Amino acid sequence: MADSADALANAQPAPIALITGASSGLGAALAAEYARRGWRLVLVARRADALEQTARDCGVSGDAQRLRLLVCDVRDIDRFRQEADRLLQDWGCPQVVIANAGISHGVDLSHPGDLDMAIDIMDINWGAALGTLAPFIAPMRSRGSGALVGIASVAGLRGLPCHAAYCASKAALIRSLESLRVELRAHGVKVVTISPGYVETAMTAGNRFAMPFLLSPRQFTVRAVRAIDAGRAYATIPWQMAVLSQLLRVVPRALYDRAVNFYGRKPRKPDCEPCRGVSRRNRLLQRRWRGREE
Ligand SMILES: NC(=O)c1ccc[n+]([C@@H]2O[C@H](COP(=O)([O-])OP(=O)(O)OC[C@H]3O[C@@H](n4cnc5c(N)ncnc54)[C@H](OP(=O)(O)O)[C@@H]3O)[C@@H](O)[C@H]2O)c1
Repeated sequence: MADSADALANAQPAPIALITGASSGLGAALAAEYARRGWRLVLVARRADALEQTARDCGVSGDAQRLRLLVCDVRDIDRFRQEADRLLQDWGCPQVVIANAGISHGVDLSHPGDLDMAIDIMDINWGAALGTLAPFIAPMRSRGSGALVGIASVAGLRGLPCHAAYCASKAALIRSLESLRVELRAHGVKVVTISPGYVETAMTAGNRFAMPFLLSPRQFTVRAVRAIDAGRAYATIPWQMAVLSQLLRVVPRALYDRAVNFYGRKPRKPDCEPCRGVSRRNRLLQRRWRGREE
């Protein structure tokens, strides 16, 4: 009896994972994986009902000991910092913080409205991602442990046509995380950059082109959490995409420019006209898809 009371008193509280963009796709799948391990969860996104659904899927809905939901736009940096301070006070510093929230739309910069879209993409995918990690840098540094994780993309390696904003946002994130990684190296804090290839989520549902090595969110998550556990500096998931990325890095511009033109283009936000300059192959592909949808 005394033994079990001692064990209870000495029991360490479960570790904490904070995940943005947890209302769908990769964020929801990452939440499920950490819930399965018995971690406490802090889940962040704008859609309250979808976030609640993630909590139900994780089996922690309504459990205030294991779950905090933060319905918030990650661009609201002040609000996020206030909530982070409250979390640090109540529960302490998370072991893992994952800046996952992101958006992806094709942009055609000759189209007046698309500059706003491009700026939004940078704000969310880069600015707000850093805003997510920032409140936890000092506490992790003084504790001497923790993992700051950014979900980047293979698209951050080179510019893709009609994807000027998304590619730039992910390239900026990759570089910023690299800076953070070297800054924090001596302090015991891991900074992990994860670059997914294609994963089947709402983000890729509108893609009308072939997506090689497409993974399910669960397949992605198992690999991503393994990389976070290992404190890997940079992980491309799946490995086949890592091979392609290495090739992409070294292909000379003249060859790249010709080859990439044959590849499919990210559609602009639904209901907008298709991105201009669409290659002939992709026009055919789009027509075929439209045919299937009708
Ligand atoms: N799927 C892929 O193939 C793929 C490939 C490479 C990289 N990625 C990256 O993986 C991450 C997750 O994407 P996904 O595929 O899971 O897409 P998704 O299903 O569309 O999920 C995006 C998540 O981000 C949240 N979000 C977007 N804007 C937000 C904002 N302003 N404030 C708070 N939350 C916001 C969304 O929640 P609310 O709408 O509820 O706010 C949603 O939970 C993104 O960073 C994406 O760039 C995905």
